[in-house]
This record gives sequence, structure tokens and C-alpha cells, in this order.
Amino acid sequence: MTQPIKLIIDTDPGIDDAMAIFYAAAAPDIELVGLTSIFGNVTTEQATRNALRLLEWADLPDVRVAEGASKPRALPAFPPSHNVHGDEGFGTLLAETPKGQACDESAAAFLARMAREYKGELVVCPIGPLTNIADALDLDPDFASNVARIVLMGGSLDEGGNITPHAEANIYHDPHAAERVFASGANITMVGLDVTHRILCTAEDFDAIEAASPRLGGIINEMSRFYLHFYTTVGKHDGCSLHDPAAVIACTHPDLFTAQSVSVIVPCDGDTAGATQRAHDGRAAVNVLMSVRSEDVKRQFIDEMSKLS
Ligand code: RIB
Ligand code: CA
Repeated sequence: MTQPIKLIIDTDPGIDDAMAIFYAAAAPDIELVGLTSIFGNVTTEQATRNALRLLEWADLPDVRVAEGASKPRALPAFPPSHNVHGDEGFGTLLAETPKGQACDESAAAFLARMAREYKGELVVCPIGPLTNIADALDLDPDFASNVARIVLMGGSLDEGGNITPHAEANIYHDPHAAERVFASGANITMVGLDVTHRILCTAEDFDAIEAASPRLGGIINEMSRFYLHFYTTVGKHDGCSLHDPAAVIACTHPDLFTAQSVSVIVPCDGDTAGATQRAHDGRAAVNVLMSVRSEDVKRQFIDEMSKLS
């Protein structure tokens, strides 16, 4: 096997974030270098706690967690998405205090330092609002060229939004940060609703993961019930989207997707605030994933999750 990729996940855990992080813990082609926390599904403080808990559950206590920004760049803080992820981020599971704590560095400083240390190797996978990534770009002018790739879950080119008619939640929650990232010239892959709405998991799929992996699969199965219930409240009865796991899988299995090369701009106000639109101002193009081998991504997810303890 080729060398595993070095990966930092920037995350607002969050039920599908938990799935993505456990997937990364199980996947042999990923070396998890760290997690950075961000608001979104929960507050940043809760996100840091949840990130530490997930690593302890996954027996990865040495993977570092760096705490991120507590609010968007220019907008006031949004209330967390309790209706989707539960009051503490993990559905009906109670909050537990982790044994470990976050490192002293800020998320942006950690991201910039790791990108410099692993220049040309580090893959950053943001699965929440992009505030920490924008802050790392501001902190270190070389961050965009030091990082090998930024593979982000967010946005929607032609699919419409999931929080407004135009905007996907991660981009909507800090459009100024997203615009900074899309204009940065970094090597970016956007894993948005154009593909994640096509990758659905059912209660039976999570039961199968628990049957193969009783401890961690059981935790994910328990969380998934709340997430699946939310999907039924918005009229979707055929499963929940694997948003954040899809982004992590796209880091190592780009062959399961097809991409278009598109310059992306993010309006920051008005009806289309937080949308990801085609830009015509000469900025660098990014890879926008537009189609997916859904059953193969789902199989990859279930197979790796089933290897957990
Ligand atoms: O729109 C889906 C995204 O919003 C996912 O990252 C989910 O965890 C929420 O943050
Ligand atoms: Ca997320």
C-alpha cells in the first residue's frame, strides 16, 4: 500500500462529523495528524470537548486537538444546530468530560505550523464553517502553497441549499471565511450537496455497522437515530446524507467522484448569502465534485466502519 495521507480534520462534531472522524480512525490510508474545532453544529467549546471524546473513544489519545474560532469573521454567532445534532452534538448521548485537553496553540496556528512542517503533504479536510482555514491563510501567507490539498465539505453548485434555498450550512455559517478560502488559490476540492445528497445511509446500514463493530459502531448507531429522525422531519424518509464522511473519503478515493473545474465566489449578503456560485473574475478554479458512485462510497464507509472495535 502507498503511504497513508497526513490529514487534519477541521470539525464541528456533530453526528456526521463523528462518523467522519471514526472513519478516518479506521481507514488504513489515513494518518490522522490532528483535529481542529469550530462552531456550527455546536459551540466551539462543545466542539473541542466532543473532538477530544471521539479520539478517546477511538483509542487515539495522542492525536492533538486545537481549539478554533468562537464566532464567524464578520457575522454574529449563530445558534447551534440542536435540531439536527442534539443539545450536545451527539444526538441523545450525554456529554462526557474528556480526560485530555486541547493543546495551547490556536487552530489556525496549529494548521499553519503543520502545513509548514509537512509542506506539500498535509491534507486539510474542513467539515464545518471555514473560519479556522481563513484565519490560517491570514496568519501564514505560505499556508495556501504549503498545504497539499484542502478537501472541504460545504457548498452546492447546482443542487440548491439545505439551510436557505441557495446556501449549504457550513458556508452559510461564515460566508466571509468561505470567500477568503475560495479566493486563496489553494488546491481546493469542494464536496458539496451536489454529491452528498446522493449518498444516503439507512437505519439498517447503521445496524450492520454495529453488528460488525459493537463498541464504536454501537455509538454511531445510537447517534444516527437522532440524525435519521431529523431527516424524516424534513420529509426525507430514505436515509440521512453522509456529508462529512464523503469529504474524508474524497481525500483518499477521488476516483469515486467526478469533478468540474470551476471558479467559485461566495456572496456575503442578500438572498444568496452563503451560496457557492460560478465566478467570472479571473480567480483560480477549484475542483467541484458533481457526481458520485454513491453505492461505492457507501460500501467504502460501511466496510471501514465495520473494522472498528
Ligand atoms: O450541510 C452539511 C454540513 O453541515 C455537515 O458538515 C454537517 O455536519 C453540518 O455541519
Ligand atoms: Ca460538520
